[in-house]
Amino acid sequence: MFTFECGSCLTAFATASTLTAALLAGCSPMTPRAPAQPPGHYQLGRAPTAAELRGWDIDISPDGAGLPAGSGTVAQGRDLFAQRCVACHGDAGKGGQGGALAGGQGTLNSKKPVKTVGSFWPYATTLYDYIHRAMPWDSPQSLNPNQVYALTAYVLHVNGIVGADAVMDARSLPAVKMPNRDGFTLFTGQDIAPQACMRDCR
Ligand code: HEC
Repeated sequence: MFTFECGSCLTAFATASTLTAALLAGCSPMTPRAPAQPPGHYQLGRAPTAAELRGWDIDISPDGAGLPAGSGTVAQGRDLFAQRCVACHGDAGKGGQGGALAGGQGTLNSKKPVKTVGSFWPYATTLYDYIHRAMPWDSPQSLNPNQVYALTAYVLHVNGIVGADAVMDARSLPAVKMPNRDGFTLFTGQDIAPQACMRDCR
């Protein structure tokens, strides 16, 4: 057993070879050891595979970028809604423990605004993204593209936004204009007067 005194610390080493290694590494509290890798490189994890990335890369843009192939009708959506959604969202999406998906149009500037897909959401494509990503609540991402398109068509229909014969796909869905599409304004960051009041302020 060797003892090796190093600056203010006293370290015990079991073998001569560890002692040599410690000396070569220049053990001193004043001279930090040069990192083996550039800073920020911790040799943890690995690059994700293309298949793993695809599992996360599911966002749909307002203009429809990212929408997959496939299509669905209002009628197909009605059947699926009865099987997978009605328990939480009520008949025709009128409400339940999962909240209302329909109604509320024209209430946003009232004292009791009712925000639903139909009254509030600016883009129809978000509906595809949301249903595919998160619904049904008890089994998210279990629906295939045709089913998501069909449910999207149905939810738009019960909001009076598309007709009973509507077919939703990657071309027709981005073309749907939502009632509240122009109800949003861009926040410029200036909602207070830029000059501080210094005199006679109220
Ligand atoms: C087990 C209950 C449950 C089921 C089943 C369910 N949902 Fe939901 N859903 C919810 C809850 C809870 C929320 C609110 C989630 C939140 O705000 O984070 C929600 C939110 C939503 C929203 C967003 C509403 C908004 O205005 O923000 C949509 C759209 C939606 N669900 C569609 C569906 C569709 C379509 C189905 C059937 C495939 C479905 N849900 C099945 C519970 C459910």
